[in-house]
Amino acid sequence: MALKELWWQKYRPKTLDTYIFQNDAQEKVVRKFIEEGSFPSLLFWGLRGSGKTTLARILINSIIPKEDQGHDVLEINGSSSRGIDVMRNEVKAHISSLPMGDFKVVFVDEADGLSSDAQAMLRGLMEKYDHNARFIFTCNYVKKLSDELRSRFDEYKFSKLSTKDFIKYGAEILLNEGVSLDTKEERETLKSYADLFKNDLRKFVTSLQTSAIDGKLIPGRIHDDVMEYGISLLELLNKNDWMGARELVAENLPEEDLPEVYQFLYSYLHEIEKFKDVNKWNKGIVIISDYLYRHSMHLDAEINFAGCMIKLSEV
Ligand SMILES: Nc1ncnc2c1ncn2[C@@H]1O[C@H](COP(=O)(O)OP(=O)(O)OP(=O)(O)O)[C@@H](O)[C@H]1O
Ligand SMILES: [Mg+2]
Repeated sequence: MALKELWWQKYRPKTLDTYIFQNDAQEKVVRKFIEEGSFPSLLFWGLRGSGKTTLARILINSIIPKEDQGHDVLEINGSSSRGIDVMRNEVKAHISSLPMGDFKVVFVDEADGLSSDAQAMLRGLMEKYDHNARFIFTCNYVKKLSDELRSRFDEYKFSKLSTKDFIKYGAEILLNEGVSLDTKEERETLKSYADLFKNDLRKFVTSLQTSAIDGKLIPGRIHDDVMEYGISLLELLNKNDWMGARELVAENLPEEDLPEVYQFLYSYLHEIEKFKDVNKWNKGIVIISDYLYRHSMHLDAEINFAGCMIKLSEV
């Protein structure tokens, strides 16, 4: 598989036209915000890959003029910038100066990673600067936010989208990528991926990308096993437990599944915190590609995989 842009990023809706709303009520509210050019502080929480970050970005891009965004919008990631210093130095500095447009925006993605000190400080900042700033938070585990902080937001819960929506969304991407959906069998294959990954649109789109080969969607290419262990693998790698990752794979997956594991890592490397950095991601991808290539020649695939884990840990 060539190293291409990840489809889930390439097809992340840039406007409301292709965005799938949770329901009509949500759509009405969001359209009203955009019409009025304003919104209250918003908390989007719930299921992974259901469109929280996407909607936050669409709102910001539709309401804050491009030329003001550098000055008026501060984006932070709550899982990497989680402490009180960031709140004091970056957030406070940002919202205490005058906006170019109507208000300043602080977009905290993955806000469930914020420390409790940081949350307490934010609460104070929100109060003090409410005339000047709006906050958008996204997170999965809303219980990690304090009730006092939550009460300052207009909350929206994100849950599962329908399989019908998945299929429609996937079909548009496949057609655009020149992948055939002409036969009943091909459409069945699309549906089987929608059923398998129905909890996460991002995972679904990634499964289509890794399964579309030479203009055809290959059935059953990613099976549940690899996906399941793959997710645990990512969790271990996120904690920098490279030894644990190596053992998990060696103990649970046969050697012939390893190419799929490399492909899985390729597709999901950006989910590992340190590889969110583009330069590190580039390095990681080169390593994965190198070890996938060696896999077919190596006498011992497990040693080769261990080598790959060690190399990735050194990035
Ligand atoms: N409601 C949606 N409408 C259109 N595309 C979506 C929607 N939800 C997810 N997607 C697709 O899935 C990808 C991931 O979505 P997004 O990053 O917004 O999810 P999220 O809810 O923020 O997930 P996480 O909780 O993991 O941060 C997007 O790039 C987009 O391609
Ligand atoms: Mg998100």
